[in-house]
Amino acid sequence: MADTTNPQFPPLEKPPYHVGIIMDGNGRWAKMHGKHRIEGHKAGTENLRRILESSVEFGVKMLTIYAFSTENWKRPPFEVMGLMKILEDVIDRELAELNKNGVQLRHIGILEKLRPSIRKKVLHAIDMTKGNDRLVLNVAFNYGGRQEIVDAVKCVIDEGIPAGQITEELLSQHMYTANCPDPDLIIRTSGEFRTSNFLIWQAAYAEYYITPTYWPDFDKAEYYKALQTFSQRDRRYGGRNE
Ligand code: IPE
Ligand code: IPE
Ligand code: MG
Repeated sequence: MADTTNPQFPPLEKPPYHVGIIMDGNGRWAKMHGKHRIEGHKAGTENLRRILESSVEFGVKMLTIYAFSTENWKRPPFEVMGLMKILEDVIDRELAELNKNGVQLRHIGILEKLRPSIRKKVLHAIDMTKGNDRLVLNVAFNYGGRQEIVDAVKCVIDEGIPAGQITEELLSQHMYTANCPDPDLIIRTSGEFRTSNFLIWQAAYAEYYITPTYWPDFDKAEYYKALQTFSQRDRRYGGRNE
């Protein structure tokens, strides 16, 4: 049988199952190129396509992307509206192809605060792709980690669960990411060393990879390097591995 492996990207021994990405640096990328910030967000969206394809190739099964935080509402209305429109356009343009490629789309965050046309498209995309299993793509849009914990606590109280029955597992099952394994690796582009409220509950033992590269320039080779770095990490979870 012919060897189909790409010599530049030999199969990884231990690819992370679940990768989270804080797709940061679109604004600075735009500035660097003398473009408007919105152009940076568009370039960032284009980049997502190659990272999705590479995820499948590199053996990643679940990807959670941070696209809009609960704090991003603080930005000028023009930029917020631009980001909403980009989400809508991406669904319109890419859904059929994503579905064809076996991507299962999910959303984490608060959908209710988004305009009805977006809500409708997101729910349609989730429904259409729910049977796919090549790659699960969680889109964190209007997502905040603290808000997620608050919502989980509210749910637990609404369900009348007594304090004595509250465990870490139970709270995990009430997060937006219920039924998703915790992220193994969180990548942040653009060189910022902070979580910015992304998966703060789930990432308790995630490995972090931070690169100065702006998100639109984060390419397949750099993604591979991040995954390779991950496979060399010694994950101890507070214990000892020897
Ligand atoms: C990330 O890029 C995308 C969102 C936060 C929506 P930024 O817009 O934060 O880009 P910088 O950090 O200003 O360069
Ligand atoms: C985090 O980036 C949010 C997303 C990538 C969607 P920000 O640019 O909003 O984070 P801060 O403000 O630098 O912490
Ligand atoms: Mg930023």
